[in-house]
Amino acid sequence: MTQYNSIDKTIDCAPTLNDTQVLEFCKNGYLILENVVSEEINRKTIDYLNGDLQPDPEYIPNGLSEKDFEGMRHSHEPSILILEKWFRENVLMNNALSGALRSLLGPNFGLPVLISAHSVECPSAAQPWHHDADSVFGPELNYLETFYYPQDSPIEMGPTEILPGSHISKTTLDYDESGLLAAVPAGSFVIHHQSIFHRRGKSTGSGKRHMLKYNYWRTSEPKKDWLDDPEFDSQTANYGGHNEARYFAHMFYWLNGKGDEYRIIGGQAWPWSIKHQIGPSYGFGKTKGYLPDWRKNNSDGYTY
Ligand SMILES: [Fe+2]
Repeated sequence: MTQYNSIDKTIDCAPTLNDTQVLEFCKNGYLILENVVSEEINRKTIDYLNGDLQPDPEYIPNGLSEKDFEGMRHSHEPSILILEKWFRENVLMNNALSGALRSLLGPNFGLPVLISAHSVECPSAAQPWHHDADSVFGPELNYLETFYYPQDSPIEMGPTEILPGSHISKTTLDYDESGLLAAVPAGSFVIHHQSIFHRRGKSTGSGKRHMLKYNYWRTSEPKKDWLDDPEFDSQTANYGGHNEARYFAHMFYWLNGKGDEYRIIGGQAWPWSIKHQIGPSYGFGKTKGYLPDWRKNNSDGYTY
């Protein structure tokens, strides 16, 4: 059961992802949960965003007044929605979402404090590809960005387009290719690594498409307390391709609480592996070696 701590505004519940699913998130940088919010709550959210439902906040945060509320409500950052009990219980603390977030952010993770409403009138051109402002590239996973779609968002309605695996380094190319279109039915969430390369997709349909974006926060040190996958072996797991496996594995180690121990020796050694080898990769569990160069300061891609 998902529990809310009203004092420090945190959430706790049981984790729902296993080793393989946590590593898949490290590799992809996103996770989609389809159709997990009820139609009634989706409708209520749209009514609220359209100004057809009166606010009824659970409490008034220090330093804010009802006048501030009005300004906030009609802005592109309607964060007072966080204060609506029905929204907190059914959207922010949604069971499927909370279980996935708990697996990646640890116990007692923090509720959002800011909501951005990405509402667009369709048809509309695609946004330029970008990493969100102030992105950090590194093995740490201290927060997660969540998109909530209260209405059907098929390809015609310009869902978010993502470049999977692009959360590990700044994409400097003038990228003009298509990515993965996160087309989802109403009541869906897309959880992103905040640094993933993305854009709002082109829309050809008509009408207004709402999407809400907000971040959840880690409040505990990382450690492996998600579900066990009996088939999972961290030595033989697939960590991805050349020039990326080292980063995905580092992130996975950090989540396991072993980020400081992580060392690699490069070449064909672990975490690199490929289908046609006849035994596990050398170099697993090395305590001397290199770290991947997240800052891109070294021509060989490794630091000390
Ligand atoms: Fe963005």
